[in-house]
Amino acid sequence: MHSFVQTIAALALASVVTAQQLCNGHASLCSRSYSNITYLGAHNSYAAVPNSVASNQLVNVTTQLNDGIRLLQNQAHQNNETGSDGVGISLCHTSCDLLDGGTIEEYLTEVVAWLEANPDEVITILWVNSDNLSPSLYATVYESTNLSAYTYSPPTSLTTLSDLPTLSSLIGNNTRVITFMDSNADASIVDYILPEWDFVFETAYDSTDATFPCDLDRPSGGTSDGKLYLVNHYLDTEIISSVLIPDTAALDTTNGYASLQANYEGCYALYSRPPNFVLLDYYSIPTNGSVFSWVAELNGVNYTAPTNGLLGGEAQSENTASGALSWWNQIATEAGESTISSVAAAVVTTMSTLVGTRNGSSTSTSWGEVGGRGRSGRELGLAGTMSLGVVGVVVGVLVGL
Ligand SMILES: *[C@@H]1O[C@H](CO)[C@@H](O)[C@H](O)[C@H]1NC(C)=O
Ligand SMILES: *[C@@H]1O[C@H](CO)[C@@H](O)[C@H](O)[C@H]1NC(C)=O
Ligand SMILES: *[C@@H]1O[C@H](CO)[C@@H](O)[C@H](O)[C@H]1NC(C)=O
Ligand SMILES: *[C@@H]1O[C@H](CO)[C@@H](O)[C@H](O)[C@H]1NC(C)=O
Ligand SMILES: *[C@@H]1O[C@H](CO)[C@@H](O)[C@H](O)[C@H]1NC(C)=O
Ligand SMILES: *[C@@H]1O[C@H](CO)[C@@H](O)[C@H](O)[C@H]1NC(C)=O
Ligand SMILES: *[C@@H]1O[C@H](CO)[C@@H](O)[C@H](O)[C@H]1NC(C)=O
Ligand SMILES: *[C@@H]1O[C@H](CO)[C@@H](O)[C@H](O)[C@H]1NC(C)=O
Repeated sequence: MHSFVQTIAALALASVVTAQQLCNGHASLCSRSYSNITYLGAHNSYAAVPNSVASNQLVNVTTQLNDGIRLLQNQAHQNNETGSDGVGISLCHTSCDLLDGGTIEEYLTEVVAWLEANPDEVITILWVNSDNLSPSLYATVYESTNLSAYTYSPPTSLTTLSDLPTLSSLIGNNTRVITFMDSNADASIVDYILPEWDFVFETAYDSTDATFPCDLDRPSGGTSDGKLYLVNHYLDTEIISSVLIPDTAALDTTNGYASLQANYEGCYALYSRPPNFVLLDYYSIPTNGSVFSWVAELNGVNYTAPTNGLLGGEAQSENTASGALSWWNQIATEAGESTISSVAAAVVTTMSTLVGTRNGSSTSTSWGEVGGRGRSGRELGLAGTMSLGVVGVVVGVLVGL
């Protein structure tokens, strides 16, 4: 009898708990506007290619989402590695010769699978449309992967930030994916790919200043009024003149509470509201989830580490700052140089030859070796990716990408 009563009580409690609507993990977020929440983002979410100097993350997008990343920022490039729908877009860092994270179809298929498994979650996707491709190409992929079934299109009358729907409304309508694109977005072609600069402004990216100044950087000459804002909170270091790579040695500090909080306070002083998006490199370092406990506090909710993400205990041997750092050292060793700077300097001296031969079928032996075109970055060998990385970073900087 006693146990019967306990069972009934437990069932009653369970039904109360399951009846409670959760939005992005928390009941208290349901009634808040999409614009009244701070989301953490993965800078170059696809760029989790092991042992590449051009990587910005350690884990794939599924794990990122499981961990709590809710903004996926990606560079899209025209490529001849077409997906099943015939669209030739790959996710590459600066150039597909440098880091090829695979096709947009492969990536979005993973995202859609996650969305289907997680029906109470709202995410944002931000495209860096590197080659100014037509939004119709993206729409083809959104349709072939079924991501289009989950997209949000704002009414044309949207005027203020608070007009953006609440999370519960986005979830209730199953329009849980908000997409922004930095160039060439056109609502008359695709209404769910929103022109980033009409809705969002950003602080400076590729900062080498660990204080992360909050001044409006893009759109140039733009205003902060009525716009969401994105803080680029990832630190680069200059290995040689104007060649920037992620400052992996500083990750514990950059992704730590004090640095995030100071950045937020500096921005709050300027804009009187917290950022909507905070973009991070290697969000999973440090491994104690400091970035997520920080953002939970900012959003006024309690952080619980997920059981199915990296931070929930999924072992990743390379998931340490020193592991990421050792990549640079290995690159130098492979190249017979003592430091990453001397490798980069050696590459620069031969740049003109390399750039001169970097063209389609006339690809030189050295580019052929390191290029790996048409193959997913995930398949590239260690040495190839590493030498490729150094060359590609230098090319990218020299051509001003
Ligand atoms: C959301 O609204 C609350 C209450 O006005 C405010 O304290 C908080 O800073 C807002 N957050 C964002 C990201 O706008
Ligand atoms: C993502 O990474 C996790 C952890 O390594 C792995 O279990 C999972 O299979 C990966 N997902 C895909 C789609 O590759
Ligand atoms: C696409 O997603 C929608 C919404 O969940 C679903 O109803 C539909 O069956 C999906 N289509 C395919 C082809 O998976
Ligand atoms: C769908 O969106 C509209 C407009 O935001 C909202 O009024 C409505 O409540 C939403 N529907 C559900 C089921 O949440
Ligand atoms: C998380 O780890 C970092 C690096 O080890 C440490 O500095 C920080 O205090 C830790 N934060 C928490 C909340 O445990
Ligand atoms: C968050 O945690 C605090 C301290 O454990 C607790 O008092 C509070 O009720 C929790 N809030 C929610 C919304 O669960
Ligand atoms: C590549 O070479 C072809 C043939 O010489 C030329 O027409 C084309 O403009 C070159 N492309 C680039 C990007 O340099
Ligand atoms: C893709 O381009 C590379 C070099 O630009 C070329 O070597 C390769 O044959 C092309 N692949 C296809 C399938 O066209």
